[in-house]
Amino acid sequence: MMSIRRIGVLTSGGDAPGINPAIRSVVRLAIYRGLEVVGIEEGYDGLIRGEMRSLRARDVGGILQRGGTFLRTARCPEFLGRQGQRKALRELNESGIDGLVVIGGDGSMKGAQVMAQMNVPVVGIPSSIDNDVWGTDMSIGVDTALNTIMDAVDKLRDTASSHQRAFIIETMGRNCGYLALTAGIICGAEMILIPEYEVSLEEVATSAANAYDRGKSHCIIIVAEGASINVNELSVFLSEHEVGFETRISILGHITRGGSPSAFDRMLATRMGIHAVDALINGETGVMTGLAGRDIVTVPLDEVVERKREINLDHVAIAKALAR
Ligand code: ADP
Ligand code: F6P
Repeated sequence: MMSIRRIGVLTSGGDAPGINPAIRSVVRLAIYRGLEVVGIEEGYDGLIRGEMRSLRARDVGGILQRGGTFLRTARCPEFLGRQGQRKALRELNESGIDGLVVIGGDGSMKGAQVMAQMNVPVVGIPSSIDNDVWGTDMSIGVDTALNTIMDAVDKLRDTASSHQRAFIIETMGRNCGYLALTAGIICGAEMILIPEYEVSLEEVATSAANAYDRGKSHCIIIVAEGASINVNELSVFLSEHEVGFETRISILGHITRGGSPSAFDRMLATRMGIHAVDALINGETGVMTGLAGRDIVTVPLDEVVERKREINLDHVAIAKALAR
């Protein structure tokens, strides 16, 4: 087994609250174990351009409570091609990096798998507010994002009730309905629209009209950005069908990706960072850290990129049962 002396760490894809605590944990644990650490800036893009600097314990001071990623991040189309991947490998070899930690979402894990196939020792750490990465119960950033959405929906409900309005609230999540479905349950939404469970415009209008007839003072409709019904189209449809409530739209968007990481995310990120460094030291490669129940485990990147994380469709039934 080749012993690791110098590891690189990069953050790639969409940022998520908790990435900074993960970087801090990787850097400090690696130093504690006697390794050198190099921070690679702006994901695979910075790797290809050789933008990296050595990181010491003090360099990651004061970032535990900060959202975003202090190494910055990027989406890097060049890395999708063989030439870009070869440039990245060359930069790693030139800088003497013999182990790599990739922090990012499912796309970034595909990139990590490519590096592993080029015989670079690699461990991935899942971070994405979408919670769409297979192999982990939770990705870093999901809990904070849910708390941000919960805060926003609670506030929107105050004004919705005061004006007897229906609020159509769009959450992020790309093609995954996890954020919308969970937010719908924890915020008591009247309706939830997600890509994994389609409903028609007519069904939404009927539910909204029923809520009005039952005497509800508001109607909260949470729509995942990947749902087949568009929020503007829905708003027009509800107005035309005179469901009782006036409608307003609120798109939460990138606000969901910012903010100080929650206690859960700081702990998850810290544990995953530690696990990733120890996995590299122990000769594991081509794996990703995952939360399985209470434990942090490693799962093969081959499976992570091939399999799709499914949402719990029982939660759709729970949400419906409680929306009375
Ligand atoms: P996320 O990691 O948040 O899912 P992206 O899907 O945009 O974000 O992926 C981030 C980066 O990972 C991409 O810009 C690209 O550089 C790299 N990547 C994504 N898919 C692949 C792939 N199939 N092969 C190699 N690299 C990939
Ligand atoms: O993957 C995280 C995410 O915020 C998705 O929920 C969203 O679809 C996408 O990234 C937005 O990407 P960008 O920051 O490039 O607009």
